[in-house]
Amino acid sequence: MEPKATTQMRIIFSIVSFFHLLPSLMAAASSSNNINYITAVFGFGDSTIDTGNNNYLATDTRADHPPYGVDFPFHIPTGRFSNGKLPIDFLVSSLALKESLPPYLDPRLTDEDLLTGASFGSAGSGLDPLTAQSSNVLKYQLSYQDYLLQNLEAAIQQQNNDSIAYNVKLQLLASRLETQVLQGSKVAYYNVYNPMEDFIYNPNKYGFKQTLKGCCGTGLVEVGITCNVTTPICSDRSEYVFWDAVHPSLKTYRYLAEVAILTVISHVLGH
Ligand SMILES: *[C@@H]1O[C@H](CO)[C@@H](O)[C@H](O)[C@H]1NC(C)=O
Ligand SMILES: *[C@@H]1O[C@H](CO)[C@@H](O)[C@H](O)[C@H]1NC(C)=O
Repeated sequence: MEPKATTQMRIIFSIVSFFHLLPSLMAAASSSNNINYITAVFGFGDSTIDTGNNNYLATDTRADHPPYGVDFPFHIPTGRFSNGKLPIDFLVSSLALKESLPPYLDPRLTDEDLLTGASFGSAGSGLDPLTAQSSNVLKYQLSYQDYLLQNLEAAIQQQNNDSIAYNVKLQLLASRLETQVLQGSKVAYYNVYNPMEDFIYNPNKYGFKQTLKGCCGTGLVEVGITCNVTTPICSDRSEYVFWDAVHPSLKTYRYLAEVAILTVISHVLGH
């Protein structure tokens, strides 16, 4: 799908999470000299970007049941691996494109919906901790996505024992992709490691009280089907950095989104 006008641009937002503490976020957008607004957002990534694609796949790696979505509008379990919206949802709503980013595989998605974006994210498709246990998750057809992920994976493997070196490398990669490989694109880097670390070491600043365990069940093992309608949840979700044993809570995602959106949009728009 190509933009109709030269002033239009698309933003591609990709998150590769590396354990749950080391997600990195890249945004790339096709660009031209006279871009002044963003007309669509496409998400690629793992469970941190999956707004419900796995619901339409034959996989057990899913979050389309309560208590997932308990803080989503109308308390709907949409397949998002959190109690509410994901950062990419906050991005599209802050761009006034739509309230939340629909999953590409939703059969109700119309061509018109697609014009303003969709998520291709699939939980367990990438480097998240769900990957090892996931089968039949969305395998991307898009070579561009493969290209980005291959490069990111290579960058990630190199730095397993040195996250700082990794972050430096990823920033260099982002800059190299932008200037050399994907000319005409914008590739922004945003690392959530530092904010996550701050949530965990300075929880009082944010009103968090539980930084080690998730809100669902014991908070140590429950994720996907083992965080289900029979699983008790914590009484105050706003006190938890993590929603389940792996994934950030809505509150954490909202904080992460605030900074990420500023970083990404200002880079994409060249400010
Ligand atoms: C990580 O450790 C391995 C083995 O000790 C070493 O070969 C590699 O260079 C290290 N990588 C970094 C980025 O420190
Ligand atoms: C629901 O979650 C509980 C743990 O909270 C688990 O023991 C049970 O097996 C889960 N049910 C299913 C169908 O997986």
